[in-house]
Amino acid sequence: MSRFILITDNHDFEQRVRKAISGGLAGELQTLADVAIPETPQDLLSGEGEESTEVILLGPGVAPEDALHLAAVFDVQRPTVSVVLVAVPDQDLALAAMRLGIRDILDPEAEERTIRVLLERAGRSAATRHRALDASSPKPADAGRTIVVASSKGGVGKTTLATNIAVALGRIAPMSTVLVDLDAQFGDVSIALQLDPEHTLLDAVTGAAKQDPMVLKAFLSVHDSSIYVLCAPKLPAHADRITGQDVVHLIEQLAGEFRYVVIDTAPGLGEQALAALEHATDAVMVCTMDVPSVRGLRKELDVFDQLGLVAPHRRKVVVNMAERSSPLSIRDIEATLRGPVESIVPRAKEIAFSTNKGVPLLHYSSRGPAVKALNRLGDSFRPDSKPRKGMHKRAELA
Ligand SMILES: Nc1ncnc2c1ncn2[C@@H]1O[C@H](COP(=O)(O)OP(=O)(O)OP(=O)(O)O)[C@@H](O)[C@H]1O
Ligand SMILES: [Mg+2]
Repeated sequence: MSRFILITDNHDFEQRVRKAISGGLAGELQTLADVAIPETPQDLLSGEGEESTEVILLGPGVAPEDALHLAAVFDVQRPTVSVVLVAVPDQDLALAAMRLGIRDILDPEAEERTIRVLLERAGRSAATRHRALDASSPKPADAGRTIVVASSKGGVGKTTLATNIAVALGRIAPMSTVLVDLDAQFGDVSIALQLDPEHTLLDAVTGAAKQDPMVLKAFLSVHDSSIYVLCAPKLPAHADRITGQDVVHLIEQLAGEFRYVVIDTAPGLGEQALAALEHATDAVMVCTMDVPSVRGLRKELDVFDQLGLVAPHRRKVVVNMAERSSPLSIRDIEATLRGPVESIVPRAKEIAFSTNKGVPLLHYSSRGPAVKALNRLGDSFRPDSKPRKGMHKRAELA
């Protein structure tokens, strides 16, 4: 049985998929031109070596309701297979697809290169789930990008930045971005996103979810910006039951499944935040334009250096609630930190308003300096993003 199965009666699309695979992916493609797709995985994957099928593409010609039905059955019966829906992506479809376990949506007009990248990811994700189900094999730690948002002081905007970064990344990687509220005692991501989660961080690190990535995925909430969310436990007392080791294991599981794992933390470097930072690929370090906050961040960066947390070029310093009228300048802050400020987010009424509204600013607004700064921060995590040189920092202040 082939590694990739494509169901479509569209010759042009099939040719693009074929070229995408022959241009750099291992494994064969089998095309089924009969778009009246079978009811169950068994009917589709009959024959020897069915275990080797990693990706099923439900291509042009397949009725969307058939595709969603088959995906739901696959999710339960063959969770290691990545089912990809080929359709013009829209938010309603993406949400239905996420809930039914479809891994990704591919635009029917996508070019060969885009198809190749998506198939590679879908294949990798299938392989990861295979390994994760096989408890004896090592878990991959580096499959996804894990971004931890941290600060020494409270109330500087970590949750605001984490939620908006996740929304921005949800556009780059819809259905492949997860936001985790690791502020286990008093986390308020659920409020910031107006979610009433059935399951929380505590369920995710105890019981069946620990062994089975499919159970873990079922514990995630879905936000209508096409991201998954793992909210903090409902009771502060439950935070004590989550150890650093639990956090490490959770990150390994999520990084194997998602392209982006964004983690909001409590102020300071407690056990849970440290565990997350030890396994993070990137850190967003937040301060405001006042001396205690900047000094606190300087000390935090010293701890990063001492413990070897997150490579220095992967630490982004963000000055939040920035104001021209501040007695401290960005240059003063950079001098204290002995390094560059990556991003400046102005103090903005619309950000405070968005928190109270329970909708991240980037989810409903596309203009204004705050939106621009948040978008730029989110975009800096794109794989093709280049480091910013000589930015006009003053110009970014409101
Ligand atoms: N750039 C900004 N402009 C105006 N208000 C902001 C800005 N950033 C954050 N805020 C507001 O500041 C408050 C605190 O923000 P937030 O909850 O994101 O901080 P935090 O660092 O996560 O806090 P904690 O340490 O308690 O978790 C919120 O009401 C938020 O709306
Ligand atoms: Mg917070």
